[in-house]
Amino acid sequence: MTRVLYPGSFDPVHNGHVEMVETAAGLFEEVVVAALINPSKGGGLFDLEERMALLDECFEHLTNVRTTMFDGLVVDLASEVGADFIIKGLRAVSDFESELQMAQMNAAISGVQTLFLPTASRRSFLASRLIREVVRLGGNVSDMVPEPVRHRLEGRLGSGPGSDG
Ligand code: PNS
Repeated sequence: MTRVLYPGSFDPVHNGHVEMVETAAGLFEEVVVAALINPSKGGGLFDLEERMALLDECFEHLTNVRTTMFDGLVVDLASEVGADFIIKGLRAVSDFESELQMAQMNAAISGVQTLFLPTASRRSFLASRLIREVVRLGGNVSDMVPEPVRHRLEGRLGSGPGSDG
């Protein structure tokens, strides 16, 4: 059985991530999707518990996918969950440089290898940072995120009823 770990900030999860998880769920026996802290990204919008709750809602239809969260090194989580590989999505060449460096660092400190999967080109512009920005400024992201995520984003960032931000 091959188990893979798909780590990310997921702040919040969007349809590019969903596509990756659905692809991975068809390729591997088990996929563990994990919300982690990216130290280079600052505080974030949702805390790890909120991000994981949204991951749970988005992937409850996939029986070989489970979710978790972790505040530490991704390689330690890979070892804890017994992952054979880390998987990462590549949207464009611009992702490759930093992802390659992380993959090499993770291999150097633990031996765990990273497999890259390409994102479909129609979703290659999706980025959590831009989605947060568009919602904050009143734009519509309903084609870009799962419905529970849109709802939570608008509650947190939008200006309508129920907004807390
Ligand atoms: O969605 P992101 O922000 O591209 O995900 C990056 C993430 C969270 C996977 C990366 O920052 C990470 O692995 N963080 C955990 C801390 C860690 O292991 N750092 C060393 C990476 S070489």
